Amino acid sequence: MTVPVVCTIDEIGSRLDADRRAGLQVGFVPTMGYLHDGHGSLMRAARAGNDVVVASIFVNPLQFAPDEDLDSYPRDLDRDIALAEANGVDVLFIPSGEEMYPDGPVLTSVSVAELSSRWEGESRPTHFTGVATVVAKLFNIIGPCRAYFGRKDFQQLTIIERMVHDLSIPVEVVGCPIIREPDGLAMSSRNIYLSPDERTAAAVLRRALDAGTAAIEAGERNPTPVTGTMAAVVGAEPLARLDYVAAVDPSTLETPNILGPRTQLLITAYVGSTRLIDNCTATIADKNRDA
Ligand code: PAF
Repeated sequence: MTVPVVCTIDEIGSRLDADRRAGLQVGFVPTMGYLHDGHGSLMRAARAGNDVVVASIFVNPLQFAPDEDLDSYPRDLDRDIALAEANGVDVLFIPSGEEMYPDGPVLTSVSVAELSSRWEGESRPTHFTGVATVVAKLFNIIGPCRAYFGRKDFQQLTIIERMVHDLSIPVEVVGCPIIREPDGLAMSSRNIYLSPDERTAAAVLRRALDAGTAAIEAGERNPTPVTGTMAAVVGAEPLARLDYVAAVDPSTLETPNILGPRTQLLITAYVGSTRLIDNCTATIADKNRDA
């Protein structure tokens, strides 16, 4: 049986309220569609941990700047419905723009201050307010639930966790591992934009993260040489152009003077004209910490 599709806020809200009244735990996977196995892994995690799984598909205009790819953002609804069904989704919420924003531009927005302005926020100043606003709205529509987000968008995950904490939103945010292609490229809906040569070159992001991790694991505690090593890896790939690279504290997203026991390595690069982001956690082994 095909997974049911609900398009209105009232219908999805009352359906999930009834589920909760019956004692069922709701798992929620928000997406912008053009689903791949990264989304599939979130749906499987939601399936494993909850009684009812709802996924949303909404390409949120608030998180695209005027010069970004909102109009050309890839869409394939039939494939998305099949993928959601194959990964155990019970109901899909697919609202129209009119349903979500009936009065046009919103007057109310959610902004998670400092966390939103650095890294991705420097290149995309309005992006995270758009993300936080739609996610807050989706959480209000879906109601109390566990919500699943990929760690590929690490800054997004950090911002959503902080928003939920600051505003006491009754949602448990679950961060899930990055799903990668065999050559290490993180799965992303935007990988479709890469030509075959660019697709091969795109594995450079993972190689750069590996080089940064190796430097930290070898005992480097100064962030500058770590990010320098990563930038050099990207610099050696002719089809790639570095946007930013950073070694940050995972909760504040600030660069420390000396790396702590856990460092989040962030990297963003253009491969051709496609902007790709990736990250990983690097841990200083105990034996190095006091060496
Ligand atoms: O990560 C995404 O796909 C989007 O930013 C999200 C969380 C669905 C909000 O539009």
